[in-house]
Amino acid sequence: MNDLEELVLEAAQRFQAAQTVAELEDQKARYLGKGGQITEQLKGLAALPAESRKEAGARINRAKGEVEALLVARRAALADAQMEERLNAEAIDVTLPGRGRARGTIHPVIRTWRRVEEIFRSIGFAVADGPEIETDWYSFTALNNPENHPARSMQDTFYVDLRDAQGRLLNLRPHTSPMQVRYARSHKPPIKVVAPGRCYRVDNDATHSPMFHQVEGLWIDENVSFADLKGVYTEFLKRFFETDHLKVRFRPSFFPFTEPSAEIDMAFESGPNEGRWLEISGSGQVHPTVVQNMGLDPERYIGFAFGSGLERLTMLRYGIHDLRLFYDGDLRFLNQFR
Ligand code: DAH
Repeated sequence: MNDLEELVLEAAQRFQAAQTVAELEDQKARYLGKGGQITEQLKGLAALPAESRKEAGARINRAKGEVEALLVARRAALADAQMEERLNAEAIDVTLPGRGRARGTIHPVIRTWRRVEEIFRSIGFAVADGPEIETDWYSFTALNNPENHPARSMQDTFYVDLRDAQGRLLNLRPHTSPMQVRYARSHKPPIKVVAPGRCYRVDNDATHSPMFHQVEGLWIDENVSFADLKGVYTEFLKRFFETDHLKVRFRPSFFPFTEPSAEIDMAFESGPNEGRWLEISGSGQVHPTVVQNMGLDPERYIGFAFGSGLERLTMLRYGIHDLRLFYDGDLRFLNQFR
């Protein structure tokens, strides 16, 4: 083997040993660079006698060609290997199942809201919506709850330092009861309506939240009695809880806007809450002063009203013990209502 053949062999080994493009380029310089071994040999041709120059030149150029071919081949191999590595690292397994998109669900309280609307609609009630920012008059005064009267603290709300265009004091409504007067003033009897919505109070514990939901009910006509309240509300509860095994009782109470007033309690006849009385609603026969504020003659019109907590109804239906769970946004809780 002559020197040039040895040189090509050595270049082949060194190129093969190079593991990166940078290493390979370093090795290239060793042979083909400015001071590289093959370059030097080509320069040396000038010193050779003319008769051997041609043959020597041909041998060196052949060796140069071989080294160049080795270089190109190794470059390609390294590029392939690099690509291979990248493909493996970024591999996409098309046989994997898709990640799917998280589906939202109807919040349990809103689900109750919708069911309550549906049940009352089916027994002839209209559904109305009203403002959450309410005037002092509708929230209290119209409901026979005069300014500075201690009974106002029963529904203590957040007062905002705001007045409407007419200079009336505004608040976040503490109950849906303002809707009784609002609705009755814009409709003619017989008035039969439910008004679900958000309310606000200065309360915060396991069974009270500063924002909560109620549904107001009102039925006014010429001879609607307390017996109708009992009948309608008991029917509602049976449908809502999907059981006839329900005991309902009307316990005497006080509200400025009803006379007589009652709190509605219910008890399950079976299950974990068996025998326990649970309060779910305020109710009563609408006070004559309120009927008057509705723009109606209290000598002619009479009826009942109720206001029930939607969170309460939801808690009882699903056996939830802390109402704050409704507002935490915890998916472990919410996913149970899919
Ligand atoms: N608004 C009352 C409250 O939030 C509940 C209530 C009681 C509503 C009696 C009524 C009613 O319509 O007749 O405490």
